[in-house]
Amino acid sequence: MEVVVLTGAGISAESGIKTFRDADGLWEGHDVMEVATPEGWKKNTEKVLEFYNQRRRQLLQVEPNAAHYALSALEEKFNVNIITQNVDDLHERAGSSKVLHLHGELLKVRSCFDEDLVLDWKKDLNIGDFCEHNSQLRPHVVWFGEAVPMFSPASEITEKADILLIIGTSMQVYPAAALMDFVKEDTKIYFIDPDPAIASSSRVKIIKEKASVGVPKLVEDLLK
Ligand code: APR
Repeated sequence: MEVVVLTGAGISAESGIKTFRDADGLWEGHDVMEVATPEGWKKNTEKVLEFYNQRRRQLLQVEPNAAHYALSALEEKFNVNIITQNVDDLHERAGSSKVLHLHGELLKVRSCFDEDLVLDWKKDLNIGDFCEHNSQLRPHVVWFGEAVPMFSPASEITEKADILLIIGTSMQVYPAAALMDFVKEDTKIYFIDPDPAIASSSRVKIIKEKASVGVPKLVEDLLK
């Protein structure tokens, strides 16, 4: 049985990483258009680097929570593919083996000259940190207005799902939100979120709970 899991910021909220659309359109106190767009990068590279440096430092101090661990336990019985919108590595640290990052990874950087030149990066990234082509390195994240190259492999994975779990996402960002439309007609969909963006239907079972509560419970049921 193929289980596909689409996760968003909500799954990492209880690890201490804030979601994006919390209150006032700010992301950790920053205007998203300034820190997460190609225009913002051009206008104030230092500010964008510092923003991601703060996020990277924070990530190195937090831990996966019960929801991340439960998903990794699901591999005991199912072929599990996780498609995450998150740039954190909490699924990997919890032991999930197949994790596709739709929006990039905070612990990677890439060359502005050659986008396929991607490096692991756990420290701060600064102006003057160059790739081997003497071009500035940038965070390996997808900014607003940029293409989402992992969407195509993600949609192919989603097409094979017998069960789709959607966890902690506002379903406001495309194309990620459109992945749901790729499932087969008889795929069972579970949506776990304390403030769910979609309504229940014959196809979608809504579980209105925090990830750390709802995901372990559902995983226990599925493993029975
Ligand atoms: N458990 C589960 N879900 C939660 C929890 C929790 N403890 N706390 C909050 N949520 C839910 C919220 O109800 C909301 O539906 O998580 C969702 C977070 O939504 P967003 O902040 O919009 O995050 P996400 O959907 O992942 O955003 C998508 O937008 O900013 C971009 O690229 C960024 O990947 C991100 C994308």
